[in-house]
Amino acid sequence: MRIASLTIGLVATFAIQASAFAGPDENGRLQFKRCAACHLATGEGVPGAFPSLKTPEVGSFYETDEGRLWLVHVVNSGLAGEITSGGKTYRGFMPAQGGALGPEGIADVLNFVLHEFHPARKDPTSFTADEVKALLDTHGKPNPRTLSETRRALLEKGTD
Ligand code: HEC
Repeated sequence: MRIASLTIGLVATFAIQASAFAGPDENGRLQFKRCAACHLATGEGVPGAFPSLKTPEVGSFYETDEGRLWLVHVVNSGLAGEITSGGKTYRGFMPAQGGALGPEGIADVLNFVLHEFHPARKDPTSFTADEVKALLDTHGKPNPRTLSETRRALLEKGTD
């Protein structure tokens, strides 16, 4: 009896430690489940309802400072207003994810999207929790609606 409960205790301790030490990539994969509710596990989204996260536009945002700030803002604050993606127009609303994710979760989930859906992009550096926290401390929390305008401005400038 005592040995059995000791064994169960050890197994439980190991399981807790294993999840605590899951690397950032694993955490990103885990956190992406909340995004997959809309953007699907494949990241391809639902045309006309939820935009794909695999488009060259999304990949290109990782490559400039302004694009990186925009990605952090979108995940943290959400996005509203009209955007065009893959030739389709979206007038959707993405709810803020920052409260549930925190800076570390935002960094991990954005890195997961980059590595999983844009494997050909070798240059962008990964986000760190410190970078995300510094960006949010400096730039605050913009209205999700202004972020669709910022997206248009970024794409007009040509970030790719
Ligand atoms: C409840 C549904 C929903 C969830 C959950 C959600 N999104 Fe979105 N997301 C949307 C919608 C809708 C849009 C487009 C908003 C618009 O039309 O202005 C969008 C847009 C985006 C964009 C911009 C795409 C582009 O082409 O510029 C990114 C990046 C993004 N989401 C990432 C994420 C990530 C990462 C998560 C998880 C942390 C997430 N989303 C969770 C619905 C969702």
